[in-house]
Amino acid sequence: MIVTNTPQSIETIANALREGKLAAIPTETVYGLAANALDEEAVKRIFKAKGRPAINPLIIHVSSLEQAEQYVDFSETAREVAEHFWPGPLTLILPQKKNCPIAKTASAGLTTLAVRMPSSPIAQNILKAAKLPLAAPSANKSGEPSPTTPQHVSQSLGDHVDFILAAGKCSAGLESTVLDLSEDIAVILRPGHVTSDDLEPVLGYLPAFDKGDHEKPKSPGQTLRHYAPNLPIRLNAVDVKKGEALLAFGSLKFMGIETGGYAKDLPTEKLKNLSDAGDLHEAAANLFSMLRELDCPDNSGIAVMSIPHHGIGLAINDRLEKAAKG
Ligand code: TXA
Ligand code: MG
Repeated sequence: MIVTNTPQSIETIANALREGKLAAIPTETVYGLAANALDEEAVKRIFKAKGRPAINPLIIHVSSLEQAEQYVDFSETAREVAEHFWPGPLTLILPQKKNCPIAKTASAGLTTLAVRMPSSPIAQNILKAAKLPLAAPSANKSGEPSPTTPQHVSQSLGDHVDFILAAGKCSAGLESTVLDLSEDIAVILRPGHVTSDDLEPVLGYLPAFDKGDHEKPKSPGQTLRHYAPNLPIRLNAVDVKKGEALLAFGSLKFMGIETGGYAKDLPTEKLKNLSDAGDLHEAAANLFSMLRELDCPDNSGIAVMSIPHHGIGLAINDRLEKAAKG
C-alpha cells in the first residue's frame, strides 16, 4: 500500500514494523526498505524481497547516538565523528557489543555492524514512533540503481513491500558514505555526500578510500554486481555514437553526434543533463533517476560525460564505474 506522510500513516507504519512487516521509507539519501532489526524473520524478509545475497550485511538505522551505543562500541574518535555528522548521510562500521541484540542475519555473521542516524525528518519520526532499530538497505532489487522516488520503489519491489511511504524525491540522491571505524585507521568503504575532506578536520587525517579491489574486501557490498542499468554505459564520452542516449554534465555547446549534428539537439528522451550549471550536488541528486529514465530499449547505450573527480564527484564516479561494469 502506498501512503503519504501523515501522523496516522507514521503510526500505521510503526505498528506494521513492530509486527515484522516491511516498509519502504524515505531518507535524505535514497528510499530504504525497513524492517525491525531485532526480528530475525523480518530481516530475512528484506533479503528475500530484494533477492539480496545473504553475505551482504545491512545498515542499522537509529534515532540517536545513545541508541547506537546499545549495539556497537564507540571509540572516542567514533563518538566525535558521530557527534559531528549525525544525523546525516554517514554510516559507521563499528565493533558489535557482546550480546548485541540485532538479528545475526542483518550483519551477515560479521563481528562489526553498520549504524547510521538519518537526518530525514520522516525517517526520524518513523524510528521514534516504532521505538526500534531499523535495518534498511536501499529499497530496490539487488543489482539495480538505488531508488530516489516512490515510483522507483514500486517499479522495483511492487508487492514485495507492505507499505511505501511516498514523500517525493530524496534530497541527496546517493547512498550514505560508509566509514569503517572498527580499526585504528578510519577507511572509507563507500564514498558519498560526506567526503574525505569533510572528515579530515574531525579525524585529524584524510581517510583513504578502499575500493575493495583486492583479496580481502572489507565491505561485502563492494564486490557484488551493483547499480547496473540494462544498457551498456560508456564513461568519459566526448561525443555521442549512433543510437546512444547522453547523460550530460554542464555545458553541451561543443559536443557532437558521430553521425552528424549536435548533442544539445537530441530529443529529451535521449538527453538528460545531471546539472546544466555543473553543480555536483545537483548531479548527485539526479544521477539514479536520470540513469533509469535513459535506460530504455529505444537507446543502444548510455554515453556519460566526464564528472570532475573531486568532492562528491568521487561518489558519483564510483557509482558510474559500477554501473559501467554491470
Ligand atoms: O544511504 C544509505 O546508506 C541507504 C539508506 C536507506 O540508508 N542504505 C543503503 O544500504 O545504501 P545498502 O544495503 O544498499 O548498502 C549498505 C552497504 C553495503 O555496501 C554493505 O556491504 C555495507 O554497507 N555494509 C553493511 N554492514 C557492513 C559491515 N559490517 N562491514 C562492512 N560493510 C558493511
Ligand atoms: Mg543498495
